[in-house]
Amino acid sequence: MDFAKGLPRRSILQAGLVAAGASAFVPTRFAIGNTAKVKVGFLLPYTGTYAGLGEAITNGFKLAIEERGGKLGGRDIQFVAVDDESNPAKGPENTSKLVSGENVDFVVGPVHSGVALGMVKVVRETGTIAVIANAGAGAATGPLCAPNIFRTSFTNWQTAYPMGKVAVERGLKNVVTISWKYAAGEEALSGFEAGFTKAGGKVVKQILVPFPSDEFQANLTEIAALKPDGVFTFFAGAGALKFVKDYAAAGLKSIPLMGPGFLTDGVLKAQGEAAEGVLTTLHYADALDTPENKSFRAAYAKAFGKEADVYAVQGYDSAQLLVQGMAAVKGDTSAKPALIEAMEKSVIKSPRGTFTLSKAHNPVQDIYLRQVKGGQEIVLGVAEKGLADPATGCKMA
Ligand code: PHB
Repeated sequence: MDFAKGLPRRSILQAGLVAAGASAFVPTRFAIGNTAKVKVGFLLPYTGTYAGLGEAITNGFKLAIEERGGKLGGRDIQFVAVDDESNPAKGPENTSKLVSGENVDFVVGPVHSGVALGMVKVVRETGTIAVIANAGAGAATGPLCAPNIFRTSFTNWQTAYPMGKVAVERGLKNVVTISWKYAAGEEALSGFEAGFTKAGGKVVKQILVPFPSDEFQANLTEIAALKPDGVFTFFAGAGALKFVKDYAAAGLKSIPLMGPGFLTDGVLKAQGEAAEGVLTTLHYADALDTPENKSFRAAYAKAFGKEADVYAVQGYDSAQLLVQGMAAVKGDTSAKPALIEAMEKSVIKSPRGTFTLSKAHNPVQDIYLRQVKGGQEIVLGVAEKGLADPATGCKMA
């Protein structure tokens, strides 16, 4: 199988992906009939703190396609990838490289909420179908929602709000929140705070650090001085790995650490002892005991030689969504209203559990409560069943 084996960007591009701007000859799509390849453009980070996330999404996507015959709607696929560097300033330009430069049929990505807002701006103008495979920015399925914008991941609110009630139930009354200062962090912290204050808790201090800084010493000293009952945090990727290790090293482990599950997903092994006891909410957990999850995890480990995580699941489900849409129109991407309608109605048998999409095109999904015990992510239960984002401000045209 021609998979990108989880290697640096150059290797990923060699493994069947073409860097945007690098191909000299771009066939005119339907001018040469339905046999032309479908172009899927990945707008993902392949460098920086979120590099591992971009790689997992790419791998998961390709695995689902490979398992379903390697095609979309009967057509072969050409993958094109742009390293978005998790740089919001380059979001519109990098999206345009795929949409205008490469004429892709679909954009898949990004990871970073700031990049997503730039992408949304461009695809709202061009009408290109986009599948957000991670970024949780509420606006993309809120005020900026559109018929051609879909999300297979979550909103930042969805992964954080349920923890508010859980924290109060566990006797935590005064909590410090800490994250990176950008949409994802701020939305996760405010989502938690909404659930937490509703249940009777109080956020005593919110700390925001610049993205993607991982210098947390001064913040950890401040938290130690504040002596809260608990700490709620959003960090992901390399930043999450570092934060959890630094938190333990600073001697703060007696203060319960909570967050959306990105805090441990994909980095749990590397965090080692430091992650013990960390309590998280997320729409996925490695240990989910379903046939879909078991076969997905086995196939992923076999293909890529590493464990799947939530990002791999989101890549996998992004492909499933396109498979269902493209099957309905038999590969005819020009039948856009029918394609969009089929995508809207799709039922995704995900490793996370079966989900459907809300009117705003965001997953309606269970949010699991998880805790690290003995180095394993244990599922304690379902924190919220069938949780839909409120999608405030979404008016579909
Ligand atoms: C985001 O920027 O929306 C984001 C990034 C990484 C995550 C989750 C959300 O793990």
